[in-house]
Amino acid sequence: MPSIYEQIGGEPAINVAVDIFYGKMLADERVRRFFDDIDMEKQKAKQKSFLMMVTGGPRRYTGRRMSEAHARLLEKGLKDEHVDVVIEHLGATLAELGVPAELIAQIAAIAESVRDEVLSRVPSGV
Ligand code: HEM
Repeated sequence: MPSIYEQIGGEPAINVAVDIFYGKMLADERVRRFFDDIDMEKQKAKQKSFLMMVTGGPRRYTGRRMSEAHARLLEKGLKDEHVDVVIEHLGATLAELGVPAELIAQIAAIAESVRDEVLSRVPSGV
């Protein structure tokens, strides 16, 4: 059974998807402010390696765990509705790239699986 990573087209597909995804995030008034002081080239590189890892591709991610990475954002008001926006833009991006709905649903489920960790003040697994 090929991994989700393989089914969507591997690293080239993830690279294109992450670039489009952050274009949508930065154009969206609901979430743009969280990225005001972020180096987006570094952010994209981290997100690419994170997505490769969680979709069953190469394990190259050396970034922080999700609770740690988003701790400062909780102080800026990060909550569920912002994670919903991430899942919305990720889904729209993948649909634009021709990824089948069934695969998009699987990737959305992966994003859902880290929701609590992203919104948590207590570090644990992810
Ligand atoms: C499923 C949900 C999410 C996933 C999988 C995710 C993934 C990541 C990853 C892999 C990093 C890099 C970690 C590191 O710097 O070592 C990161 C950082 C970051 N994320 Fe998320 N994220 C999610 C939700 C969100 C949401 C909802 C927002 C805001 C709307 C957001 C904004 C940011 C920002 C601004 C950073 C950079 C933090 C910093 O460098 O200080 N993320 N995220």
